[in-house]
Amino acid sequence: MKISIISASHRINSESKKISDLLKNNLLNLNSNLNIFSLDLAKSSLPLWSPDKKNGEGVWGETWNSISKNLENSDGFILVVPEYGGMATPAAKNIFLLCGNGEFSHKPGLIVSISSGDGGAYPISELRSSSYKNTHIMWIPENIIIRNVEEFNPGSHGKNIPEWLDYRIDYVLKLFLAYASNMKPIRKIVNRKDFGNGM
Ligand SMILES: Cc1cc2nc3c(=O)[nH]c(=O)nc-3n(C[C@H](O)[C@H](O)[C@H](O)COP(=O)(O)O)c2cc1C
Repeated sequence: MKISIISASHRINSESKKISDLLKNNLLNLNSNLNIFSLDLAKSSLPLWSPDKKNGEGVWGETWNSISKNLENSDGFILVVPEYGGMATPAAKNIFLLCGNGEFSHKPGLIVSISSGDGGAYPISELRSSSYKNTHIMWIPENIIIRNVEEFNPGSHGKNIPEWLDYRIDYVLKLFLAYASNMKPIRKIVNRKDFGNGM
């Protein structure tokens, strides 16, 4: 089974990337056979969607095709998204416009939002309401918010990280993997030709 972890920060060496790497380790501890594709949107520097994407030139050639293939081959997605200005990041919104080829279609997604303070709720509400229509991603009902993210360091968390958070993450990751595995048969009846976009 293949899982993609997308870090949606705009910053190199971000907290989102740190959390993405930790989640990758957690997933591999749960199932060492998982194939994990990590996509750091800060590093990949994908431009905003534009009509040029159709031409398949420049970044829209090999670079994008390789990312798209990796996402298409995935059975589930974890999106690590920081709160910027009380919103999901533009990079997070952009990836949903770029993936117009069914990459996310009818596959489970887990939102992990992060904040250096007490925020982190807004990206979840925004993504749950606006990212799924054409991508058909299925956000699972659980999500994770990591507040005071700079203090998040499993084994020696800072004082603002609650004890129970590691257990909750473990629980949600197990659920997410169960969704990823059990939702595979659904995709056999998906008709993207006639119903590629939502209503
Ligand atoms: C442009 C910008 C806007 C931000 N706005 C918010 C915000 O509205 N709420 C919040 O809780 N944190 C906000 N922060 C702080 C981020 O939560 C914090 O910097 C976090 O580490 C960013 O994640 P990253 O390192 O993955 O980019 C903002 C940070 C940046 C760079």
